[in-house]
Amino acid sequence: MALSELETMEKTDDLREFRVAFFAMSRLASFPWTMLEDNLQGNKSSELVSQLLKQTCLHPLCLKFPPSVRYRRLFLSEIIKRHEATTSDPLDELYDALAEVVGAAEAGECYKSYFLPSGDAVSLLENTALISQGTTGLVTWEAALYLAEWALDHQQLFTGRSVLELGSGVGLTGITICRSCSPRRFIFSDCHPAVLQKLRENVQLNGLSPRTCPAVAVEELDWTMVTDERLGEIRVDTIIATDVVYDPEITGSLVKLLSKILNHSSAEVRPEILICSAVRNPDTYSTFKQQLENAGISHRVMSGPVSAVFPYNRLASIELMKLCR
Ligand SMILES: C[S@@+](CC[C@H](N)C(=O)[O-])C[C@H]1O[C@@H](n2cnc3c(N)ncnc32)[C@H](O)[C@@H]1O
Repeated sequence: MALSELETMEKTDDLREFRVAFFAMSRLASFPWTMLEDNLQGNKSSELVSQLLKQTCLHPLCLKFPPSVRYRRLFLSEIIKRHEATTSDPLDELYDALAEVVGAAEAGECYKSYFLPSGDAVSLLENTALISQGTTGLVTWEAALYLAEWALDHQQLFTGRSVLELGSGVGLTGITICRSCSPRRFIFSDCHPAVLQKLRENVQLNGLSPRTCPAVAVEELDWTMVTDERLGEIRVDTIIATDVVYDPEITGSLVKLLSKILNHSSAEVRPEILICSAVRNPDTYSTFKQQLENAGISHRVMSGPVSAVFPYNRLASIELMKLCR
């Protein structure tokens, strides 16, 4: 392969990395800035910056599902700072793009888009603050991204199955599974009214409904309030939950619910249960394991390396466990 072809390929990969990180609103420090600076050093042409804009702020996806105003402003300011430090020609479109966001009003919510291996995006309406309206459920957490990647690597475990997700939040994992793993039926659930509303919007935004294949439902399911009657109705092959282990009180009710589900089902129809957690507080996590043990539920750790599809902090300690009776 000629050197120029190789360079073009590398540039394309770097531009893709910029696009993926921009639409997921990744930390600006995680972008491949060195590539941009290396290219601009001693190069009069600003063509690469122009291409970079087309992959981010001027991409059609940004018109439809824009990242927050603040994020776009910081992103453009960062490019301008690095561009101005070189001898490359000034680029009007860069300043035009900044002018558009400088005066724009900030909102409490924004869109984040996560690219699937097919190149299609899962676009989600999320809140800009990690915790808002008294819930942690209005943003996508790292464990959700990890389990989505794990599912993409183990699609056969979801194909043709009916799946219940507990504490779905804004829906990244479930939507990825629905779009890529061909489950038969998928039930998203949560307990918080604002989360349920956003979840419904996101499910619709991504073209899923009770009439699509898979058939999709969004249901209110509070682990502390669920009745035996409702439990009897839960007949699924697989149950998943991500980032729900962060408060011993919450995990207590989760373990009670899982224990009841396991008690209600015979060995032949017992659902497979996958819980994926970011281990932030080892004490809370071991309390959860103790609660499982006390309820007679054993677990097997399943996490390991997965194909890197989405951008997030891969140094975070994330554990995926499969529960069994
Ligand atoms: C940290 S968020 C995780 C959201 C999503 N699974 C993710 O990983 O991005 C925890 C979620 O659990 C839900 N949750 C907390 N307690 C719950 C309960 N008792 N019943 C149902 N859902 C609950 C919250 O509403 C929130 O959406």
